[in-house]
Amino acid sequence: MTVHIGAAPGQIAETVLMPGDPYRAKWAAETFLDGAELVNEVRGMLGFTGTWKGNPVTIQGSGMGMPSLSIYANELISSYNAQTLIRIGSCGGMQPHVDIRDVIIAMSATTITSPSSGIFKEVNFAPTADWSLLRAAVTAAETKGGKTHVGGIYSSDVFYAERPDLDEQMVRHGILGVEMEAAELYTLAARHGRRALAVLTVSDHLQTGEALPSADRERTFGDMVEIALEAAFA
Ligand code: HPA
Repeated sequence: MTVHIGAAPGQIAETVLMPGDPYRAKWAAETFLDGAELVNEVRGMLGFTGTWKGNPVTIQGSGMGMPSLSIYANELISSYNAQTLIRIGSCGGMQPHVDIRDVIIAMSATTITSPSSGIFKEVNFAPTADWSLLRAAVTAAETKGGKTHVGGIYSSDVFYAERPDLDEQMVRHGILGVEMEAAELYTLAARHGRRALAVLTVSDHLQTGEALPSADRERTFGDMVEIALEAAFA
């Protein structure tokens, strides 16, 4: 047990998928895992452990934003020995060729600040995905055949942004989408020698204002969960 995770030692798998939404953790565990059991409900941040094709997997909600994800990822790494941590979540599209429902596999995650920024002082650390996971996820996504993009994303501290000039610079520099967690996950994985990746579904678009109808979300989000699982055990 840790401060924020009630699971007993051994109840968390070495491979952890991390959606922001605890109810999406429940849905993904019930849909994709065999024998999924609830292992955490502290603060309603649900976590489940089961197996996928015989491999132990935990799906643990991270909450929204880097400070929340940082709490769960730190405890999963330091107290439960998580080795592979894959964020599955939604993002806002930032490029004209990125459409709603597309999958983005994040090679890097740019930030202004993250909970880890304080330790880097004058250095702009570049949070980067694990190459083996990235490569396996791209292969899995290509096999599935959905439209997939691989490149940089922006991990923002705010959903309701007040700096249109910043979004413009992100777009200008080829950033594919915006979300709020991946940069801290990549930084923690680098610090502790673990593997991390973010596989995202485009749920809304900053330029067109389009948003994914809630009825469509499950099917598109399902592709992302399968890509993450296939990448973890490739
Ligand atoms: N901004 C930040 N995070 C997000 C967005 C967005 O537009 N869409 C999904 N996650």
